[in-house]
Amino acid sequence: MPKVLLTLPLPQPAPQWLGDAAEVSVIGHIPSEPELATAVAEGVDVLCAQLRDPVTSRVLEAGKGRLRAVSLYAVGYNNVDMVAATSRGVIVTNTPGVLTDATADCAMGLLLACARRIVEGNTVMHTGHFEGWEPDYMLGLELKGATLGIIGMGRIGQAVARRARAFGMNIVYAGAKKELPPDLADARPLPLEELLAASDVVSLHVPLAEDTYHMINARTLALMKRNAILVNTSRGPVVDEEDLVTALRENIIGGAGLDVYESEPRPAPGLIECENAVLTPHLGSATTQTRRAMAELCARNALAALAGELPKNTLNPRAWKKTPPPLIKPFPF
Ligand code: DGY
Repeated sequence: MPKVLLTLPLPQPAPQWLGDAAEVSVIGHIPSEPELATAVAEGVDVLCAQLRDPVTSRVLEAGKGRLRAVSLYAVGYNNVDMVAATSRGVIVTNTPGVLTDATADCAMGLLLACARRIVEGNTVMHTGHFEGWEPDYMLGLELKGATLGIIGMGRIGQAVARRARAFGMNIVYAGAKKELPPDLADARPLPLEELLAASDVVSLHVPLAEDTYHMINARTLALMKRNAILVNTSRGPVVDEEDLVTALRENIIGGAGLDVYESEPRPAPGLIECENAVLTPHLGSATTQTRRAMAELCARNALAALAGELPKNTLNPRAWKKTPPPLIKPFPF
């Protein structure tokens, strides 16, 4: 019987599907690197991993001769040593597409919360500090006519653009890999530095990679408008969080809406005290429907790999040098 290892339990019916085809074991918490390596060394054909699991070269090496796939329950794959996986013939799959809308909703929620000071207003009410309406009380940014700069115009960036346009925002963007669909023809491409200078809100939708690590730092924050809002629902290390705390404290930018952090789960010192920051705990994909769809995709990718088929969401197809033997019958997709 083929073996599948999960680090955390997944929502049904994915575990049921996996259990019908393979022997499934679950660690039950996020393992350390040595713990995961030991578990993989016991004989695993597919590892279903979470975004916090350290899928390092040591872990991949521990799967030598047997591990054929790492099926991620996430779209981001910065926790996997892709070079090591590819050189060891281990394919890595992710869950693109199914979390686009949930993540775009979350980015839009942070944008609205910052622009209209909703969290600040909520605190005023809950602490009994509302003294009555006044013409200039708690004024915010009007979205109609404001400019949203999207960095990373892939699936999620485009979904945010569509939502923001419904609020009357003008869209500029940087970092589109493909031509945009016709319904986004009015969005304007700009070089990164011009986008930062032109935008009232900047929203990040890039994967974490060498060229995006700390792309928002003291220098790039200083290019933004003084009342601009930064929204990050991508990965924490895209932003130099220490520099961001300084920028928020010194009003170099107006505010930030963050769902991801450099060293999760702890925000950088000083961030929690910044009243102009709205902070959520990595909730981008956190809806029941989306998490279920992610689990289904994760399981389908794992089952395809067990059946000796290259899964649709394979990030490193070059790793599949020669087709491994089928261990199960193909899953009826
Ligand atoms: C992902 O899948 O990469 C997301 O961050 C999960 O919310």
